[in-house]
Amino acid sequence: MRQPLVMGNWKMNGLRADGLALAQSIIDGLNAGDQGIAVCVPFVYISEVGKLIESTPLALGSQNVADQEKGAFTGEISASMLKDCGVTYALVGHSERRTCYADTDQTVAARFCQAQKEGVIPVLCIGETLEEREGDKTFAVIDEQLNAVIEMAGVEALANSVIAYEPVWAIGTGKTASDEQAQEVHKYIREKIAEKDAAIAEQLQILYGGSVKPNNAKALFSMPDIDGGLIGGASLDAESFLSIYRSI
Ligand code: PGA
Repeated sequence: MRQPLVMGNWKMNGLRADGLALAQSIIDGLNAGDQGIAVCVPFVYISEVGKLIESTPLALGSQNVADQEKGAFTGEISASMLKDCGVTYALVGHSERRTCYADTDQTVAARFCQAQKEGVIPVLCIGETLEEREGDKTFAVIDEQLNAVIEMAGVEALANSVIAYEPVWAIGTGKTASDEQAQEVHKYIREKIAEKDAAIAEQLQILYGGSVKPNNAKALFSMPDIDGGLIGGASLDAESFLSIYRSI
């Protein structure tokens, strides 16, 4: 039985007071026994939000992590720094990093490895663009993005990770993949990993991301291979985010 997980990705939104107020409203809406909920906070506010949510059911995540361990890499944030600030999860390979900041399958795999080395759980984001979907390349893109990580980290590494399937055409566009479209890809990902290790595939949390809202979350999360969501826009409002979390 897989544990569901709902993660918010705040992206580059809000200032210090907004983040603290949002985190406070989320924890106010949680009960002591809740689990499987996290927020990915902008780096500069990670420590402070981390302190606020320490000892609550809300877990702390980052939106990226360096592909190197330490040293002369101006502007980067290492996995050990994140660990030191109480971070549990680090997104790697979000499509906005791949598209706007030239992250490649190789740098994403290196980030994945760095996070894991420090005991931070990497959340590997994969997914196709609209052009790739229309060109019937969805599964080929998923293969490439997954293979890069499996080749560098080994399939065993997936045991301590999360995968987020996020079709790029559904991110921030209001166009959600249909429940069946999402399930088809999630099933493909799980089967592909099962070919290498059935036990790892069975327990792997595969999240869906891309315009998840309170009104479509329940149907998506009821699909057999969808174990939760990575939520952008709707995670900036505590009520929406909690409502999505409660749909699991
Ligand atoms: P969205 O973003 O929910 O705003 O589409 C999802 C994401 O980018 O993780």
